[in-house]
Amino acid sequence: MDTNVIGKSLNRIDGRQKVTGGAQYAADIQVADKAYAYGIRSETAAGELLAVDATETEALPGVLAVLHALDAPKFFRCPDDLTVGERRPPFEDNQIYYAGQLVALVVAETFEQARRGAQLLKLKYREDSDVSLDFVASLKGGSPKETDSKSRGEPEGAFSAAKHRVDETYFTSVGVHCAMEMHGATAWWEEGRLVVEDSTQWVVGQRKALAKTFGIPESDVEVRSRFVGGGFGGKLFIWPTSILAAEAARVVGRPVQFSLDRRGQFTTAGHRPSTMQRIRLAADEEGHFLSLRHDSVNQTSYVDEYDESASDVSGSLYECPNVATSQGLIKMRTGTPTPMRGPGETPGLWALESAIDELAVEMGVDPLELRVRNIAERDGAKDLPWSANLHERCLREAAARFGWAERDPHVGSMREGDEVIGWGIASTSWAAMRSEASVNVEFHSDGTARVSCATQDIGTGTYTVFAQVVSELTGLPVERIDVRIGNSSYATGPISGGSMVTASVVPAIADATEKGLEALFELATSEDGPFAGRERAELQVCKGNVALVGSSEKAFGIGEVLKRGRLAYVRGEGKAAPGDEQDEYSFRSFGAHCVEVRWDPGVGRLRVSRVTSVIDSGRIINLKTASNQVYGAIMMGVGMALLEESVYDKRTGRPVSDNLADYLIPVMTDTPEVDLNLLDEPDPHLGKMGARGIGEIGLTGVAPAIGNAVYHATGKRIRKLPIRIEDLL
Ligand code: MOS
Repeated sequence: MDTNVIGKSLNRIDGRQKVTGGAQYAADIQVADKAYAYGIRSETAAGELLAVDATETEALPGVLAVLHALDAPKFFRCPDDLTVGERRPPFEDNQIYYAGQLVALVVAETFEQARRGAQLLKLKYREDSDVSLDFVASLKGGSPKETDSKSRGEPEGAFSAAKHRVDETYFTSVGVHCAMEMHGATAWWEEGRLVVEDSTQWVVGQRKALAKTFGIPESDVEVRSRFVGGGFGGKLFIWPTSILAAEAARVVGRPVQFSLDRRGQFTTAGHRPSTMQRIRLAADEEGHFLSLRHDSVNQTSYVDEYDESASDVSGSLYECPNVATSQGLIKMRTGTPTPMRGPGETPGLWALESAIDELAVEMGVDPLELRVRNIAERDGAKDLPWSANLHERCLREAAARFGWAERDPHVGSMREGDEVIGWGIASTSWAAMRSEASVNVEFHSDGTARVSCATQDIGTGTYTVFAQVVSELTGLPVERIDVRIGNSSYATGPISGGSMVTASVVPAIADATEKGLEALFELATSEDGPFAGRERAELQVCKGNVALVGSSEKAFGIGEVLKRGRLAYVRGEGKAAPGDEQDEYSFRSFGAHCVEVRWDPGVGRLRVSRVTSVIDSGRIINLKTASNQVYGAIMMGVGMALLEESVYDKRTGRPVSDNLADYLIPVMTDTPEVDLNLLDEPDPHLGKMGARGIGEIGLTGVAPAIGNAVYHATGKRIRKLPIRIEDLL
């Protein structure tokens, strides 16, 4: 496809606003008469709140209200078919389920007064001694609740009979999203109508949840989220913050802003749960997989059953006749886990792709070749053909670009100065999903276009994608396209989750643009139009001008056509939804990461020095924003592999590393050199333009590629993340 702007490296259209401070986030919103709330979180992980003494707090100047679990109106519960962060509404009762649970809120004229009021609040608890915060001990002590198990063929028998076998158990630790922008909202009521300026990945879901929680119609709730300072799954679903901001505003009859502080982000706003995953993988003499069993257990909270589904990917990624996957949950005294970039696949591929490397070592075959030998011809779990599968090409190209052929397979054999070099490879994969989306496109008499949709840009470039699609189909420059998203009042759009916004909205934007152009052509050929007497089909739009097909003369600007017809604007209402193709094909993106680590045993330093990634994500709409997604995801993978772990104090149940000094996330000096190739092959069956998502696939597979490289350098097979220096000494 010959394109003007699709696939190009366009700068973000909101980039200038962001770097000049013009972009306003939820906590920046200034409204008249705004009051501030400060949350009090339980310091105990298990027990009951017995008494609250607010005497001193209420005597403080500026304090407007104290809300707490012993004295608060009850919220309605959200129905089960609406996913929420915590199913239990805040302040439901006096039970304490985890350290960090919100138990009270002080509202005051200023933030400082609210915080001081919170410090003076006297809370009395009954504390239980059992906080059960040790994941491994919990697993030994209790039996996980099985939530899912799937099987095909004869996995047990095939395993026993196979020549080559791996049976190992892998662990991942609790990870926290650590978005720069905290969870927070500014809320107010306008004569019974609730307006919430929020930080959310799903304005439509947030509106629904708030309407249910307060028992009011959805039409009486407006959720705005024009900019989001990072989500990564942590802001997909509603958390107590937004509910309590709205409740506080109702109580004091003024706008209220309530944001979590950084510590609150570690307890009260979701996290990626810890997992234990046993892999039993067997192959024949040629290295064809004969049996794959993947049994995963993840930690969940006492209030919700969050299922990480880490084993699911093993049902599809490779060809294997005998497969069994299972998922179990074990309750722990933590806040409720939630999706964190690439949920399921991210921990799941850590286990699977590590086990494949172990099998390759056991067999003495190249881990690249072992993967290529087991490329799946079709999706074995769904028993459907792939819409497209460029897995082998990704593996081969990544290896070629990386220089894999130079790899000496002997452990510790590649050296440079004091450093031992390790090279590892892993596949990466993510389901290519799309959902229903409605979009409106208007052409205005000032020669601009306005495109609107109730979806949001969580930093990924969604604003720019909207502008590019309209620009591509009209020839209007992106500067003349006004993109309106981040408001639940627009036409219903998708959640910014599961890497599906682009695949969902692109066909809907195209449909709306075409319908808008139809309306414009109708006007142009009407009596008042510049092409009166002509047929609509004779017209086309080119470089923002309406003209006769095949003629370079007599072109009229879009605004000119509207002015002549004395219409302020025309509108196209577009819609796109997944259809029958979902029953005919399985949609999945594939890719490969090659990683180089450098291990300096003299000083105990381990670095990821180089990453080559080749990913098939369908058609790329914006090369720059798509690449940015993968660069960021690779950094997250480095963090997951080597640094990130939310550590809990096993005696108190409180997170110890609940700040950005103790919870280590990679910084610029940890950045590897990245060579990325996005194949840019349109998916033949996934909607107009064939774009798939790119958010999560950059992360899945990075950690095992690093672990495999660490093994190659050191000979140490580390099966628990993060890999620590002390594991290697
Ligand atoms: Mo993603 S974890 O669906 O934001």
